[in-house]
Amino acid sequence: MSAYRNIFSLNKTAFFLATAILPLGSVYAQTIPSLKDTFKKDFGIGTALNNAQIDERDPKMTEFIVSQFNMATPENIMKSALIHPGWDTYNFEMADKLVAFGKKHNIKINGHTLIWHSQLPPFIRGIKSADSIRTFFTEHIKTVAGRYDGKVLSWDVVNEALNEDGTMRKSVFLQYLGDDFVTEAFRLAQQAAPKTELYYNDYNNEQPAKRAGCIELIKKIKAAGVRIDGVGIQGHWHVGKVPLKDIEESILQYLALGVKVMFTELDIEVLPRNFQGADVGQRMTANAQSNPYPEALPDSVQQQLAADYEALFKLFLKHKDKVTRVTFWGVNDANSWLNNWPIRGRTSYPLLFDRNNQPKPAFEKVIALKK
Ligand code: G3I
Repeated sequence: MSAYRNIFSLNKTAFFLATAILPLGSVYAQTIPSLKDTFKKDFGIGTALNNAQIDERDPKMTEFIVSQFNMATPENIMKSALIHPGWDTYNFEMADKLVAFGKKHNIKINGHTLIWHSQLPPFIRGIKSADSIRTFFTEHIKTVAGRYDGKVLSWDVVNEALNEDGTMRKSVFLQYLGDDFVTEAFRLAQQAAPKTELYYNDYNNEQPAKRAGCIELIKKIKAAGVRIDGVGIQGHWHVGKVPLKDIEESILQYLALGVKVMFTELDIEVLPRNFQGADVGQRMTANAQSNPYPEALPDSVQQQLAADYEALFKLFLKHKDKVTRVTFWGVNDANSWLNNWPIRGRTSYPLLFDRNNQPKPAFEKVIALKK
């Protein structure tokens, strides 16, 4: 059980003493150490936000987010299917709300994402000419990156353009625009958003073959005289199998290219899966073993998860002069996409906070690294 959990059950005198010696703020925020404060001299601490969170539907959730994180990435609402639903139609409502949320709560926004082969608007399927794809590509980047220049800290300009072997993924962009499309996306983003940091983002790009492809991409963009400021390693890993050596090697190799390195979608899956990574197109069929912990996570797994997060943050701290940001893919376990992927309706436990925003043993291990 968490050390912070019992404050609400203290008697009146103990409660008064406990709150009097803690810094000002709400009781909720006081009782749980803050990730963003703990690591404020090391790197930014981010989270992915869903619609309800951006809408501030639950004031307690807002308070919690603001107390723990100083950066935020929209989990879905800035993806092209949502922000650019028709050829000439944009829907900026939620993205504008997110920018306002960031301004109000002093949270920096990492835009996600301009060019991605997934969650594309449905009209793309009807397009069969390179000219039309190029027009969409150009107008989309100009309009969206231009609107938020100076309002978001950064953009994931291109997301997941690589295969596992480091070759280019066969996306609609590769098919119609050729493999210079990544450089072209950065060129357009640079023109539309001169005040915004521009990143390439992918999963498994800490793995040697994919990393080599990623390094080639970054070199190619730079050789064209186009700006790229950073590389995002998403960090969708699996309990007991976090590839620490590859991660460390990647931090060093990417940094040597002169780009910032960040962890942009961190979570550690505890449920069974027969592949690694985060390809949203990949699915698994449910069976009797696929949802093993519908009620609670067994202690042995909980401790392994805590040890994994501890080792990971130890590594991040070792390279705190090189790592600029660590963003979790969701605020708490209930929000995680891993409850619905690669199988719908499972109960996953991949983050530092449980379904009630209470700290898990992994949180305590991570915080303890700074004590
Ligand atoms: O909004 C609809 C809702 O109207 C509908 O009833 C419901 C039923 O299927 O679907 C809802 O849309 C879902 C959407 O999330 C919003 O919840 C989509 O089905 C679902 O596919 C979508 O999943 C997102 C996924 O990207 C899609 O590609 C996840 O939330 C999001 O966490 C995930 O994020 C990606 C990163 O952008 C890139 N890296 C990998 C990462 C994890 O897949």
